[in-house]
Amino acid sequence: MKWRELFARIGPPRQLNAELREKIRRSFDESANDEERFPSTIDPRIAHVRLILEFFGNLDGKRVLDVGCGKGRFARVLQDGHPAAEIWGLDISPAMLSYVPEPIRTRTGSMTELPFPEAHFDCVYATESLEHAVEIERAVDEMCRVVKAGGKIVIIDKNAEHFGRLATPEWERWFSKREIERMLARHCREVHSQPISYWKDLKPDGMFLAWTAVK
Ligand SMILES: C[S@@+](CC[C@H](N)C(=O)[O-])C[C@H]1O[C@@H](n2cnc3c(N)ncnc32)[C@H](O)[C@@H]1O
Repeated sequence: MKWRELFARIGPPRQLNAELREKIRRSFDESANDEERFPSTIDPRIAHVRLILEFFGNLDGKRVLDVGCGKGRFARVLQDGHPAAEIWGLDISPAMLSYVPEPIRTRTGSMTELPFPEAHFDCVYATESLEHAVEIERAVDEMCRVVKAGGKIVIIDKNAEHFGRLATPEWERWFSKREIERMLARHCREVHSQPISYWKDLKPDGMFLAWTAVK
């Protein structure tokens, strides 16, 4: 049986138990020095960055959380552009977080159990990290919990219609537009989604989707 058929039958794991959490942490800790696969910087002209910056607007005096921030490539751009913002990066992997420069603040933890109080942030975003959360709905609930009423959320991740185009670990999930829209709409208003490419003038090939919401 081909792996794709097997995957369709069994599906990815649904529960982030202690063993799987440790496996995911170890996998990212071990890959942290792979700068090609996990770059620590990103070109600020890339459409994924632009969408976050444009949707959030002026961040002076605002508190922002990057969920599953990795080495903080997005957080760096936000902090550079908004020195008066308080930017936080959370990740399961301490090795990834060791690359995040000050004054960005970091916290180790799981996006399914964010170690922050309710309504603590003005804006929250997750780029290519929700796909690793395993308990997806719980992670989206958590993002919505820690954002203030009127606060903004962005999720950028891969489209389930293209699953199989890249090699993925067994826990990774890609998403349909409706699936994440439905999860966000349980807590937020103004929920939108759109295909997004890396460059603004390049027609999206459908691989990436961006969801935006206001709580
Ligand atoms: C593909 S990387 C993306 C990193 C970053 N968002 C970016 O775009 O550069 C996925 C990140 O999610 C983190 N991650 C995986 N599972 C997580 C969890 N349950 N809670 C928090 N972070 C997690 C990994 O350690 C890794 O840094």
